[in-house]
Amino acid sequence: MSIPVPNPSPDFNITRTSHLVLSSNDLEKTRAFYEDVLGFHVSDQDDGALYVRGLEEAYHHSLVFIKSEGPRKCLRMGFRMYTDEDLKIAHTYFNERGHKAEFVERPYQGLTLHVNDVVGVPLEFCATMDQKPALLQQFHRHHGGKPMHLDHVQIATHNVQAAIDWYSELGFRMTEYTATDGTDELWGVWLKRKDTTQDVVFSNGRGPRLHHLAFHVSDIASIIHAADAASSMGFASSVERGPGRHGIANALFIYFRDPDGHRVELFTNHYLAIDSDFVAKRWELSDTSRSQLWGLPATQNWFFDATEFTGAPVLEPLLDAPPVTLEKFMEQTT
Ligand SMILES: [Fe+2]
Repeated sequence: MSIPVPNPSPDFNITRTSHLVLSSNDLEKTRAFYEDVLGFHVSDQDDGALYVRGLEEAYHHSLVFIKSEGPRKCLRMGFRMYTDEDLKIAHTYFNERGHKAEFVERPYQGLTLHVNDVVGVPLEFCATMDQKPALLQQFHRHHGGKPMHLDHVQIATHNVQAAIDWYSELGFRMTEYTATDGTDELWGVWLKRKDTTQDVVFSNGRGPRLHHLAFHVSDIASIIHAADAASSMGFASSVERGPGRHGIANALFIYFRDPDGHRVELFTNHYLAIDSDFVAKRWELSDTSRSQLWGLPATQNWFFDATEFTGAPVLEPLLDAPPVTLEKFMEQTT
């Protein structure tokens, strides 16, 4: 393993995870799930697309659903940069290094840059987006899980080391990581640009594939109410895992599967990770408390089922290191 030294002065300023573009077989079903069950607000909808945002998001969208047939896909993962100048510098930076980058036009977004990262994830960067009123203090409109803002995404990749090397050069810093027991091989890395523990997580597996997206909620009551709302609205089977508490980042969590199967996490706050001398926390892969401090490990399906990215071939992981699943745990203990 080598843990790269993060670049304190990257050529351009990526600020945070911003938005995702996902497929939807049926926009009305998708809308019912995100709007009525989870409590998102719809910014716009037309025949081909649905745009939603969380309660504190004062901009047009953090999730975009594109009507499409066939298996579910993630079309793009979006980051914000600070200014359009950052985008222009990044355009040159990526092209000089052999990553074909191009400017595109996207509805409700300013200058937008497309490029694939080193492990094949199709990325989208923008610095500006149409503004919308935040609904944070429209308390009478809060319901479901009361999702606040998009916080992070987790991606399965065939090469965790390549991912962390590439993102470290762009200024991302690692806050926590999992290594295979007694070795220096990286199994998972929690990387961040904003001041909390993560913007993007890369974990070992067939990839690239989107494992989940995660929205911050303000309290555990919102997590419980989202599950209750799912139950009473006919979406009980959408609750996949939890509630529980992660060892990594200390967050209380619940996971849902939306009508297409995209995995959505609602979770309470993690912690601040700002100082330059912050030391990343190591977890051993066999330590099941890294994924849940109490309760049983997640199922095999939770660990291994994920959403492919459009146009990105899926590669087998370089590291043969399966995690402890519920099925494996039960085998070992009965
Ligand atoms: Fe997460």
